[in-house]
Amino acid sequence: AAGTPGGIERTFIAVKLDGVQRGLVSEIIGRFERKGYKLVAIKSVVPSRPIAEAHYGDLRARPFFKGLVDYMTSGRAPVIAMVWEGPDVIRQGRRIIGATNPMDAQPGSIRGDFTLTVGRNIIHGSDSFESATFEIGLWFDPEEVYNWRFTNEEWVV
Ligand code: PPS
Repeated sequence: AAGTPGGIERTFIAVKLDGVQRGLVSEIIGRFERKGYKLVAIKSVVPSRPIAEAHYGDLRARPFFKGLVDYMTSGRAPVIAMVWEGPDVIRQGRRIIGATNPMDAQPGSIRGDFTLTVGRNIIHGSDSFESATFEIGLWFDPEEVYNWRFTNEEWVV
């Protein structure tokens, strides 16, 4: 079943404001889509302060926390929030995205190809099964996540 660690998983992926401003939404969606992952939820949203603070809750003590939450909730652009599903998608999603610091991100990864600095690294991806479960529940109501079936899956998996 979808949502099993190590099997068919779900992960929370968000194109942040800078990715939207730079017109990289389709590029980012395309990379996950072409890999063979399944988009099971998507919405354009300006997060509330409580949602942004909860999303980055483990960073509360960090000096950049307030600035990051101010930025995410500024409304200067929306966040494109998504849930992607497929084999090992949490870990593979992080590989597709690349290292948090763009200076460590491999060319070929999203951050390696498009970004220069950590405060403008255009995309977020859940870093574990626990954070994926938490973040999907934080950003989406259950009825917003729709489980459909690939009709081409015998050609991909
Ligand atoms: S941790 O806890 O050490 O793993 O944190 P890290 O992976 O470095 O970063 C976690 C998220 O914080 C963002 N980040 C920053 N945002 C703005 N400014 C600065 N200086 C900064 N440093 C880290 C980083 O991009 C991660 O956010 P997401 O959205 O998950 O990529």
